[in-house]
Amino acid sequence: MNFTRESIIQLLAQEDFSPIFQEADALRRTRKGEEIQIRALLEFSNHCRRMCQYCGLNRTNTALPRFRLEPGEILETALEAVEAGYRTVVLQSGEDGWYKPEDIGTIVREIKRHGAAVTLSCGEVPEEVFRYWRECGADRYLLKHETADPELYARLHPDSSLEARVHCLRIIHSLGYETGGGFMIGLPGQTMETVAADLLLLKELDCHMAGIGPFIPHPETLLREASSGSTELTKRAVALARLLLPEANLPATTSLGVLDSDEKRSVFDCGANVIMQKVTPARVRKLYEIYPSRLTDRTISAGRQAVEEEIRGLGRIPV
Ligand code: 5AD
Repeated sequence: MNFTRESIIQLLAQEDFSPIFQEADALRRTRKGEEIQIRALLEFSNHCRRMCQYCGLNRTNTALPRFRLEPGEILETALEAVEAGYRTVVLQSGEDGWYKPEDIGTIVREIKRHGAAVTLSCGEVPEEVFRYWRECGADRYLLKHETADPELYARLHPDSSLEARVHCLRIIHSLGYETGGGFMIGLPGQTMETVAADLLLLKELDCHMAGIGPFIPHPETLLREASSGSTELTKRAVALARLLLPEANLPATTSLGVLDSDEKRSVFDCGANVIMQKVTPARVRKLYEIYPSRLTDRTISAGRQAVEEEIRGLGRIPV
């Protein structure tokens, strides 16, 4: 199908979206099968030099106790996840300059040596660092573009620009990473035009993965009074992302589950085929608070079992 900004806006506004959900579900089935890929998400530092207005980790939030795992503990936890059956470990953090590129590079090499894939999600770094981590064996890089509206982007990120973000994504792609983009639904100031542009940008960047989740206001940010994003619109955007990028890996995002756990389950019938499960050590898990959420303090293997059961309950195959 040849999507334009206008046709996407029209589709998003349709009263009955079920034919598109079904089409996205059918396409997911033929291209990705019945498997749901479970990724281990290891959040290793909540220190961040950025001021993203929507994010609870932004550096102006002085109410948040900050933590940083030692490289040894990051590796130990990642290997525990591999032991529990995870085939991909996602290493995520705020933009924390404390770690040397070599610290992360060494961890990547070790995880790879144990046979798992590694996804990095550590924000914007210089091109040579993206290259070095790729040489260490990192397979994928997640860097959501957040919003494709340059003015909205500048307002929400006083210390950055959409142009710089997109530049990083192009570098990531050119280095041979599987490239993960994505954006939020319901950011204050977002319009249907923006959502259409967000979807088209995923396509233009040729993203291999795209995380699309609703915005959730965090009480310690300037956007505390704003409303949460619509879960219905989130599912519609995921379905259209499936149609635009048939081969992509599309997660059911954590934020969707925070707003509505049924909606998170049902997004697997709208094109999604990936889920992320936190393996962050329980003692720091609640400090990685990008947005308010309810967390469990299950161990890595118990969490893995629970998510596998949930997937089987949906009639799908956990991987
Ligand atoms: N609500 C929902 N998602 C958020 N993110 C950051 N802050 C929020 C929020 N308040 C998302 C961004 C970021 C990812 C790690 O979490 O898309 O890329």
